[in-house]
Amino acid sequence: MENFGPITPGQVSLLVGFVPVIVAWLYSELLVRQNNSNASEISRCSDADSVGNDSKIQLLEGGTSLTPPSEVRRSSPSFLRCLLMDKDFLLQNHSTLRSLTEFGAILSLYYVCDRTNLFGESDQYYSRDLFLFLYFLLIVVAAITSLKKHQNQSPGSGKSVRYLNRDQTEEWKGLMQVLFVMYHYFGALETYNAIRTFIAAYVWMTGFGNFSYYYVRKDFSLSRFAQMMWRLNFFVAFCCIALDNHYMFYYICPMHTFFTLMVYCALGLFNKYNKYGWAIAAKIGACFLVIAVVWEVPGVFDFVWHPFAFLLGYSDPDESEPHGPMDEWHYRSGLDRYIWILGMIYAYYHPTVERWMQKLEETRVWLQMLIKASIVAVCFVVGYLWYEYVFKLDRRTYIAYHPYTSWIPITVYIVLRNITQQFRNYTLALFGWLGKITLETYISQCHIWLRTGGPDKRARKNLSLIPNYPMLNFLLTTAIYVTVAHRVFGLTNRLKMAFVPSGDDKRMLCNIVVAAIAAIVLYCFSLVVFNVPKMLA
Ligand SMILES: *[C@@H]1O[C@H](CO)[C@@H](O)[C@H](O)[C@H]1NC(C)=O
Ligand SMILES: *[C@@H]1O[C@H](CO)[C@@H](O)[C@H](O)[C@H]1NC(C)=O
Repeated sequence: MENFGPITPGQVSLLVGFVPVIVAWLYSELLVRQNNSNASEISRCSDADSVGNDSKIQLLEGGTSLTPPSEVRRSSPSFLRCLLMDKDFLLQNHSTLRSLTEFGAILSLYYVCDRTNLFGESDQYYSRDLFLFLYFLLIVVAAITSLKKHQNQSPGSGKSVRYLNRDQTEEWKGLMQVLFVMYHYFGALETYNAIRTFIAAYVWMTGFGNFSYYYVRKDFSLSRFAQMMWRLNFFVAFCCIALDNHYMFYYICPMHTFFTLMVYCALGLFNKYNKYGWAIAAKIGACFLVIAVVWEVPGVFDFVWHPFAFLLGYSDPDESEPHGPMDEWHYRSGLDRYIWILGMIYAYYHPTVERWMQKLEETRVWLQMLIKASIVAVCFVVGYLWYEYVFKLDRRTYIAYHPYTSWIPITVYIVLRNITQQFRNYTLALFGWLGKITLETYISQCHIWLRTGGPDKRARKNLSLIPNYPMLNFLLTTAIYVTVAHRVFGLTNRLKMAFVPSGDDKRMLCNIVVAAIAAIVLYCFSLVVFNVPKMLA
């Protein structure tokens, strides 16, 4: 097995770190088995195979009269108990250990697929016909098999008036994500402008979703914030270490993290004034101002972002023209710099628009038709003008206009998608499902679907498991890819619950400190391992 790229200390620490986890997991598996047979004798709890959830384990522990878990937890720090292979502790955390092991296995799979030549690779091949055929085929399949009607009847009125944000945005994400990853798989360079628009729509959703959340729930707690960050960055952080890539290689993650942070700050600072309209207006104005100053005034960007170069620097080793390390971040973040603010504005006016729509729904039919028809007409004209005069521009020119025009297609889509009650009530559940795992499909694609073949290299080849049968190979790798991405989504959530429990700041901080210490120890250890051979030589 030939390796691309040298092994790094980070990879060694990861490997060394996973060994005790695997051992602990195997041991806990054994303990659970034993415990189960004991328990079934005592309490006839014969449900031996489904030991996945903690509550059942605790139930079993009760059956075998072990010390109550809460008491054990208090007696000594959990990390130590894990090291000492404390039986109760391992039993309690059996499912977490299993998730960690599975997570490690997935990372290894990524490494093997991407960085070794155990599996082959194939060139990308683009045919517009095939590309669109596959995409529309999927839409047709989704429509046939998973068209879902939502019944959100609000009490009182006969018609449903809820606007089903979650389902619709998830479906929207799914629709875009499929095209986005297919663009990478087939190297469909001609859809470049469309992809930029989709990314803008994701960023719009970041602003929209996060604003709605913080504005309505007013939950600025540390644990909630940490959970959000975990969701966005946990998997990518491990991918960076395991595959020796820069964070910016997965540019979607730093971008969404940054814009999420901006929304959090915008609403979190002085949040007691959020109930006043003027305060929100001032905050949104301030966001515009900050972004405009940093991105539009020459020199400010470099000054502000220079200290973060270690995190956000990136350059493609295959690129022929030399670039500064921060150019990538400048370009990516700059493209969508305003659209998240627009998402916040839309979220703020969402209730108002909803009220209008309800009123519209209740007016006489002919008037309603007339208004809707004119809205549709306006949308079509605006959308067409945008398509003709902006979208069709060549890549470079389009990019220059993108930050100021991406709101047009987004708005048109939102309006048309919601224009009638029927449209609003139906979603394609298949795309909704795919929309939930966009982050995982985004990160995974480079490693188990495409191939980069080296640190920081852009994926320009496809993974090939069935040589010479490109379409069969596409089918097989896609099935594996989507399954693994879905697993990762579940694992990220399960581990989030274990390490960043909601509303338990103390335990979370404790976890952070332990994780930091463990990481430092492991890293130092692997540095030593690395340098000993050099010193001996
Ligand atoms: C905030 O934005 C991030 C990034 O898009 C997203 O993952 C997260 O779910 C959003 N939070 C809420 C509450 O919508
Ligand atoms: C309309 O549709 C979009 C996306 O499909 C959704 O995000 C939005 O909340 C919907 N409702 C309104 C009132 O805009």
